[in-house]
Order: sequence, then C-alpha cells, then structure tokens
Amino acid sequence: MLVSATEMLNKAVAGKYAVGQFNINNLEWTKAILMTAQENNSPVILGVSEGAGKYMTGFKTVSAMVKAMIEEMNITVPVALHLDHGSYDGCYKCIEAGFSSVMFDGSHFPIEENIAKTSELVKVCHEKGLSIEAEVGSIGGEEDGVVGAGEIADPEECKKIADLGVDFLAAGIGNIHGKYPENWKGLDFDALAKTKELIGNLPLVLHGGTGIPADMIKKAISLGVAKINVNTECQLYFQEATRKYIEAGKDLEGKGFDPRKLLAPGTEAIKVIVKEKMELFGSINKA
Ligand code: 13P
Repeated sequence: MLVSATEMLNKAVAGKYAVGQFNINNLEWTKAILMTAQENNSPVILGVSEGAGKYMTGFKTVSAMVKAMIEEMNITVPVALHLDHGSYDGCYKCIEAGFSSVMFDGSHFPIEENIAKTSELVKVCHEKGLSIEAEVGSIGGEEDGVVGAGEIADPEECKKIADLGVDFLAAGIGNIHGKYPENWKGLDFDALAKTKELIGNLPLVLHGGTGIPADMIKKAISLGVAKINVNTECQLYFQEATRKYIEAGKDLEGKGFDPRKLLAPGTEAIKVIVKEKMELFGSINKA
C-alpha cells in the first residue's frame, strides 16, 4: 500500500521505534526491500536520491515501478516512496511523478531562504497528500556528489523549521553519510535531546544509518528519532555477495552469466541487512 510517511512515523514516535528508509537503485533493490518489509510485517520507506532517480531514467519510471510492484507482489504493509535530499525542482518533479513523500534539503541555503522554500513546499505537499521532511544542519560525508560537513543543527533553527508544518525533521547531530572514519566522535545526544525538547512529538530523522553502533541507534530512538536512513550498507552487502559469486567462478558455470542468477546473491544479501536493520529499529510487526 503506497502511503505518505506521516502516519507510520507518528506511530513510531508513540511506540518508541523507528522506520527504516532504505535507498533504492534498481528493480532488484526495490524488490528485496519490499519483500523483506512484507515478510516481517514492517512499514518501510523507499528512498530515492536525485542521482538514483536519474539513473533509473527519471522519477516517473521509479514511481510507476514501485506502484506496479506493490500491486504485483501483493504488498499490504505501508510503503512510502520518498525523495531523498531533494532540490526545490526535484521536489516538484516527484510530486508530479506520484511520489508519496519528499525531503526538501534546504540545509545549504541561508536559514531565511530554507524557511521560505520549505513553507511553500509544505503547503503544496499537504494539498496533494504527500508528507515532507526538511533538514537543518547539513549531514556530513558525500552522497551523490552532495558534500556536507557534518554539522550539529542549532535546536532553535530546528524549532523554526518544525513550526512550518513539516511532517518530520532531519537534524544533523554529527552523523555522516557513508562509512564513519576511525576518529568519529559519535552522535551528539545533548543536541538531540535539546531539539526534541523544543519540537515535541515531531518525528526526527537520522541520516547516515550505515555503521552507527546499535547502542547509539537505540539511544537515538529513545530520544525521538523515528526514521533512520540506510543506503551504503545495502550497497556494501550487495557488492560483497556479488564479488563472492564471481570470485567463486559461478558466473562461468552453466548459465551462471544470466543476470537473474548473477544478481541473485546480491539481492538476497540486501534482504539480510534490511531485516537486521528492521529488527534493530524495532519496526517488525508494526505494519
Ligand atoms: P548511509 O549511506 O550512510 O547509510 O546514509 C543514508 C542516508 O542518510 C540517505 O539519506
């Protein structure tokens, strides 16, 4: 069932668990994540970056594929199709393409401009039944060519953006995209607690879910994080399983070159990591 992410995330805040956003890149990715969500009776958010959207030939293709898969695979758990780190124009394209949720990442604009653009998009999204995520304090690391410095969001700025009526908010708390460096200082729970105090029950989003230790994930959830984004970890699992298949020479045996065989171990590996994350986040049987 394609839905906006509002209800599933409000339920997550109330139930003190988080829903995973898993980024998709192609049909195998989408199929693996949808299957895992259904098998575990978990709500799920499919994240699409602008780069991944382009790779899949455009947001319309993605939207059509996801809707058709939900139908053909008999997916009954709540699924949100969400633009990840959207530009202003990207948000409008996804609204038109039939996404059920968008993130407007105005974190690199001066706060006044972030506010103006976010308010406008909140209005449009809500008129059309989509949920909208905003971001304060850029998330560190690199994602699809967008490089952030890993800021700690100012809780007062978070409050300003929250008051615009966004449905959930990404606040930088030292988290970064991709692998964490050896000398990473960890999440800033004081900043998280302060933000939570100011914004009340609005669901908070933790980006850069790859490689954050389980105890930090649990603490973040206890402090109001209700959506956790995971991208790199699925890529690493896919890569490792595919590498093993090739290194074992399986592509050279019989019809092992058939893409349906070649991509199968990677697809299965995505299912394994997605299930692991759903267990850690506590979203199993919460559909
Ligand atoms: P990772 O790639 O670090 O898991 O981050 C994903 C993310 O935050 C997508 O917005």
